[in-house]
Amino acid sequence: MDPISEIKQKLDIVDLVGGYVEIKKSGHNYKGICPFHGEKTPSLMVSPELQIFKCFGCGEAGDIFAFYRKIEGVEFGPALEALADRVGVKLEKKAYDPESSVKKMLFEINSLASQYFNYILTKHKVGTKALDYVKNTRRLTDETIQNFSIGYSPDVFDGLLKFLQTKKFTPEQVVLAGLATTGKRPNTYIDKFRGRIMFPLTGIDKKVIGFTSRSLDGSEPKYLNSPETLIFHKSSFIFGLDKAKVAIKHDGAIFVEGQMDLIAAHQAGISNVVASSGTSLSTIQLKILERYTKDITFAFDSDLAGVRAMHRAIELAEQQGFNIKVAMIPSGFKDLDELIQADPKKAKSIFRESIPAYDFFLVSALRRNNKNDPIGKRKIMDELTEIFRKMADPVLRDHYVKKISQEVGVSEAVVADLIKNTKGGEKIYDTKSQVVFSSRAVPSEVKTPPSLSVRRMPEEYILALILRAPLDTAQSVLYKLGQKDFTDPSLLQLFTELKRYLLGRKRKFEIQHFIKRFANDVQDKLNELYLWDLQETGEDEENLIKELEKVFYLLKKSTAKREMLEISQRIKQAELAGEKDLLSQLSREFKELSEKLL
Ligand code: CTP
Ligand code: MN
Repeated sequence: MDPISEIKQKLDIVDLVGGYVEIKKSGHNYKGICPFHGEKTPSLMVSPELQIFKCFGCGEAGDIFAFYRKIEGVEFGPALEALADRVGVKLEKKAYDPESSVKKMLFEINSLASQYFNYILTKHKVGTKALDYVKNTRRLTDETIQNFSIGYSPDVFDGLLKFLQTKKFTPEQVVLAGLATTGKRPNTYIDKFRGRIMFPLTGIDKKVIGFTSRSLDGSEPKYLNSPETLIFHKSSFIFGLDKAKVAIKHDGAIFVEGQMDLIAAHQAGISNVVASSGTSLSTIQLKILERYTKDITFAFDSDLAGVRAMHRAIELAEQQGFNIKVAMIPSGFKDLDELIQADPKKAKSIFRESIPAYDFFLVSALRRNNKNDPIGKRKIMDELTEIFRKMADPVLRDHYVKKISQEVGVSEAVVADLIKNTKGGEKIYDTKSQVVFSSRAVPSEVKTPPSLSVRRMPEEYILALILRAPLDTAQSVLYKLGQKDFTDPSLLQLFTELKRYLLGRKRKFEIQHFIKRFANDVQDKLNELYLWDLQETGEDEENLIKELEKVFYLLKKSTAKREMLEISQRIKQAELAGEKDLLSQLSREFKELSEKLL
């Protein structure tokens, strides 16, 4: 058997999906909240028989591989490897790749280092002071320490080097992993991280690719990261994405500045938080994030540096079409971490109360300066001018001119004049800034599930019901239906085959078997009908039969209407042609049909 079929046989889609979102049995299928778009009422359906999923809200659908790729944001290859690994299916070894063997070694070194640092912090007496700091000053729980594998690098020259040598790694290899540097004298090596709280950086597949670290005694630099290596690329790394990705799919992403903000947030139960950790947000990071969400809320530090960083980040994210909001850290708190320590409830509420980016710039400028003082007012307007000058959309511009004028206490005319692009003339209307400032605030389109009446055309609905009805009921309904009752070609084909398959059949209907008769597009339709949630109809036999009767009547009615329309057209033609016999025959047929409709 080929590995794909083997994996499919061993891994049930219900287990796979159930590992990410809560799904509950609903008739033949399972139902849950879709992780791929924001929704409150469940429209994700999973079929154990067909081994597929479909969301009737956003349209995502497919098999275990499709689900895994989408939710993990990976290509087919890695999805295949990961799922094969999970169920113990062996894939043929890829051709020998020298780079990948070095990468493998670097992963091993990082993983061992992470275990070593964690051991020192939590179990060794050398880590006592650090552990006291982490637990009592930073208020991290044991659970959080383990969840993030936080560690401590002892303040000695070669603690890690020695440990890794016992694991048969050479100092050169440790340097390659970014965990040691060469000393002043030839052939001497020293640990890169000494006397620091260690935070492993884990990739999306949970492998450790590097570290970030914080000094314990206040020495500089406060934060120190691994250098770029074969496996660690700062600009494409998002700290915490491995832990936040599922929540992000559902709730959008919260971006914070620091790793401690992120860890504190996760500990407080805010789980859709990521950080760019030490670098300004990059285009690549946004590209990666895009696989999970288009909604970003920034919660950067409230100082001027934080506002500046946020301004850059917002500009970049706008260019890439993200929907952006800002959560305000209340005054009196430096960053999210401080706020969480002081008032976790309040911390959660700032995300519910997040505001559009431009309002944030206004509020934050007002907060940091005194508008009643002429110099303060000048500073506020300088700051705002720089930001709002780039705004191309005239409606937004007008809105903010009014708002700034009111809030800062400067006349509209002056505000309008100031933000009317003082520097560079047309420059602000170049294509880039057009994109930057006009594409914002377009909400990512989330299709709401079509209402039942729209979705359930009788000719579709009746097939969905027949597919789940007891055999004898299905047979008797099929018997009374004809090709003229179906207008859609795929539905007609489904009906014809279903009739052929079920009439005269003794054994129970098997969808897995039946579906093989069709080409892909008809299979898709069949999948969809079979995944329809008929819970509100009630899937017990009695309700199904009642519903079938209703729909059968509706369907026959619409067929009769269609036929009457046709006949009335033919009647017109017959009148024109003066064909009396035909005319009277058609009129009789018309009358019979209209009686049926009553
Ligand atoms: N940073 C850095 N190098 C520094 C200082 C800061 O890379 N020398 C990065 C870190 O990712 C840090 C973020 O910038 O988390 C924000 O810096 P700062 O506000 O100074 O630190 P906090 O996150 O508040 O750190 P802590 O709470 O541990 O003091
Ligand atoms: Mn902090």
